[in-house]
Amino acid sequence: MSNHFYITTPIYYVNDKPHIGHAYTTLACDAYARFQRLDGQDVKFLTGTDEHGQKVEDAATKAGIAPQDFTDKVSQNFQDLAVSMNFSHDEFIRTTSERHKQTCQKLWQILQDKGHIYLGKYAGWYSVRDEAYYTETEIVDGKAPTGAPVEWVEEPSYFFDLSKWQDKLLAFYDENPDFVAPASRFNEIKSFVSGGLKDLSISRTSFKWGVPVPNDDAHVMYVWLDALTNYLTAAGWLDDEASYQALWPANIHMVGKDIVRFHAVYWPAFLMAADLPLPKRIYAHGWWTNEGQKISKSVGNVIDPLALIDEFGLDQTRYFLLREVPFGNDGDFARAAMIQRINSDLANDLGNLSNRVQSLIVKNLDGVHPALPDTLQEEDKALLDAADSLLERVRTNFANQQFHEALRQIWQVISHSNRYVDAMAPWALKKTDPPRMAEVLAVLMEVIRQCGILVQPVMPQSANALLDQLKIPADKRDFAAIGGARRDDLPVEIEKPQAVFPRFIEAEGE
Ligand code: MSP
Repeated sequence: MSNHFYITTPIYYVNDKPHIGHAYTTLACDAYARFQRLDGQDVKFLTGTDEHGQKVEDAATKAGIAPQDFTDKVSQNFQDLAVSMNFSHDEFIRTTSERHKQTCQKLWQILQDKGHIYLGKYAGWYSVRDEAYYTETEIVDGKAPTGAPVEWVEEPSYFFDLSKWQDKLLAFYDENPDFVAPASRFNEIKSFVSGGLKDLSISRTSFKWGVPVPNDDAHVMYVWLDALTNYLTAAGWLDDEASYQALWPANIHMVGKDIVRFHAVYWPAFLMAADLPLPKRIYAHGWWTNEGQKISKSVGNVIDPLALIDEFGLDQTRYFLLREVPFGNDGDFARAAMIQRINSDLANDLGNLSNRVQSLIVKNLDGVHPALPDTLQEEDKALLDAADSLLERVRTNFANQQFHEALRQIWQVISHSNRYVDAMAPWALKKTDPPRMAEVLAVLMEVIRQCGILVQPVMPQSANALLDQLKIPADKRDFAAIGGARRDDLPVEIEKPQAVFPRFIEAEGE
């Protein structure tokens, strides 16, 4: 069995600067990709930018630059953000690349050769902001159901015979009950498809910024057909058979709830029509609001992820975004909640615990790490069992994309450790029972080691710093090293620890 794991983010429109929503989707994938690597999988993690279409062309015109120069510039912002957020993607794809354009044309040609594309005329509503077509019945007060402005479009267009795929899609959904998650989103998709599908316009003639349709220069491809194909491009479908065989179908396309329809209806229909395997899963996460308000440029409350990193710290921001909101739900960004998480979960629960334990070892045992007791007391066993069984629970949480729940499980063990340290009071045992003090500290060190390894996917830098303090060698930080299997990975000697998770103190006057 192959242990390849191919995970993708949506590719981001380059019409504007990246914001928190963009950082969020990729962050979730980054944590997932890192988790799978630590768990022994051969991961390909793909992200990138969606650079064609009317929206991008309009933005370039507005900026007074040629579209290619404009997309070069804005795509770079997304690549820079990925560095700032410490994303571990294996490839950053740009849809303006030659390889991608050829892949789109190959897919088009196959669809056409198989008789799924025909030339007609589109007359209807189009929203440039959503890059989506809407029917008369979907228009509410002259706007798209998303609230985006629409314009009337009438032009020659190629169509994909989407209407023929309704039954096949519904049958596929039935046979693959985990294809779309959360379940509520899957139900929306099923009822949308059950309501009947119309053929889809897949080319435009009224602007030029797109992949040319093979053998008909008057048309460029509809940006969503172009964009979705990026997943095949990066898999090597065009030119790298071995890679394609290893990677396709993708294990998961992570998307926001606004773009599930494109991924769970159009994309599978294109793939079925081309006789290609379908991705295994589409997961749709929710949207962030800012202090209760919808995030929008016109309101001026867009959250800049770089500003968050600057003020709160990188791993703190990563932790907050994945811990605060159940993955799949909408969530609110509240400053107070961020500070609470930093100070309580990170600085106190994990940071203090590890500092206290290490300091006691340095102070009372000359930094020499004590051995675990041969016979465990009941409390030792309860805590070690909780830690040893954590990976299994967390693995299930990750497999279901319940990242917040994985963190909650880890913090349960951390809280358990805090209760244990308070109850055992090793600082008092120093006087009354030094051997027992050493045992207690050894139990705690083992739990901290395992938790440090497990938080790596979400907080790679801080976890590294913590594991460095514990003197865990780099090759003993993967998941093969936990679950109680490798207790002897514990260090011989440690030094006085520095705080890995500093408290956040609000600046005066705020
Ligand atoms: N280019 C398309 C995707 C093509 S994939 C083949 C696109 N790009 S986007 O830049 O508009 O959005 C990318 C992702 O950002 C989407 O998954 C979207 O849900 C996410 N978010 C945008 N704003 C968001 C929030 N306020 N909160 C959370 N995620 C949000 O769509």
